[in-house]
Amino acid sequence: MAKAKTCYTCSACGYETAKWVGRCPDCGAWNTMEEGISARAETTAPSKISPKQRPGSGASAALLKDIPEDTTLRIPTEISELDRVLGGGIVEGGLILIGGDPGIGKSTLLLQACACLARNGKRVLYISGEESARQIKLRATRLEVKDPIYVLAETALDAVEQKIRDLQPDVAVIDSIQTMYRPEMASAPGSVSQIRESTSLIMRLCKETGTSVFLVGHVTKDGAIAGPRMLEHMVDVVLYFEGDRQQDYRLLRAVKNRFGSVNELGVFRMTGKGMQIVENPSEELLSHRAKGTSGSAVFCGLEGSRPLLCDVQALTSTTYYGTPRRTVNGADAGRVALLLAVLEKRANQRTYNQDVYINVAGGLELSEPAADLALCVAVAGSLKEQAIAPEVAVMGEVGLAGEVRSIPQCERRIAECARLGFTTLIVPRVNARGLKVPEGVRIVGVDTVAQALSVIF
Ligand code: TYD
Ligand code: MG
Repeated sequence: MAKAKTCYTCSACGYETAKWVGRCPDCGAWNTMEEGISARAETTAPSKISPKQRPGSGASAALLKDIPEDTTLRIPTEISELDRVLGGGIVEGGLILIGGDPGIGKSTLLLQACACLARNGKRVLYISGEESARQIKLRATRLEVKDPIYVLAETALDAVEQKIRDLQPDVAVIDSIQTMYRPEMASAPGSVSQIRESTSLIMRLCKETGTSVFLVGHVTKDGAIAGPRMLEHMVDVVLYFEGDRQQDYRLLRAVKNRFGSVNELGVFRMTGKGMQIVENPSEELLSHRAKGTSGSAVFCGLEGSRPLLCDVQALTSTTYYGTPRRTVNGADAGRVALLLAVLEKRANQRTYNQDVYINVAGGLELSEPAADLALCVAVAGSLKEQAIAPEVAVMGEVGLAGEVRSIPQCERRIAECARLGFTTLIVPRVNARGLKVPEGVRIVGVDTVAQALSVIF
């Protein structure tokens, strides 16, 4: 067989040259040329590739209304939190990329998903390029998995492709894309060109055979999936696993989903026997709350469409050096600085001689402006050394004039607070009008931060 023609492609703009150059002649980026197989060579010599290998070739265009609707396309994994993030299950022939830090539990969750699928009579193939079959067995024993899962320890992609074609599984897992390689390319496994070529091969395979594939992707130091940015465009679904390795919560988030909403969040906990779903995350996040101490406020955030209660903590202490210190964990430090200025100017809460520490319990990251008021109340509480009553929850966006602005989906947040026994809810006055209020809950609408503080303290 003739060796496939290689070329160098710019990973930033896609420009192709036959020889390696240090700087892309097209977009001017440095050191972005990666070795790959020429896309042009493939298109100019179509006769060498059998029609079977070229999905869709020879197909004629059809009217959308003539294409039959298929209702049985989704395969539920029966791990409810995973199904929720996937939008109801795995779509037949879908390619799903799961990224996350090493050791966060990608392999564990996927093996558990395989077990559930196999238990329901699906044919499942687990391909690992990182662990030997023995090591996978060891993990399966630990997870008490006894279901019939086919296992393959392999890194050469042509062998993987052959196995998938032979076995015709409903679902396959490839752990991980960075360990897979195409031998006809000279670059090392994990390089940009290898990842791109491997992914496009796997994608063609998915669409052709109808096998759904979970691809595990490693992440770089700053948290993006390693490899070309194109990787995320190529696949159908991109999921990210987040969470502190020191804490046992794991959040699974969809950042792209061609078959569902990206607003979903799955919550898991790593236990001695694998990943377990957390059905009631708000309750768990608040379970360690120290009631009766100053500097803590409960806020109901929204993770996508899912309400999550969290404990926002602040500690202020006198500064003994020149500049006061601000340490923020779980919120944006710039936003906190802004709120401290608003507190000082508009509500007479002075922190110029105070170190301020902010922490959001449970390892959550607050990114919504709706958390502003809770941050202000927590800081003021610590300054005043007064605890907030345990049945109070606070939400609202704060503007520079000290005004409390409206927040989205207030009713959903109120319902979650009420469910967990919070009976006094401080919300923006704009939101308080015309709300459906659960029984036994008192809603207090406020216009300004100062007003909120006078209601609470
Ligand atoms: P793993 O799934 O291998 O992570 P990834 O594939 O994302 O790199 O998870 C490894 C970690 O999970 C490891 O630190 C051990 C821990 N673990 C448990 O706590 N309980 C278990 O049942 C299993 C299988 C692993
Ligand atoms: Mg792994």
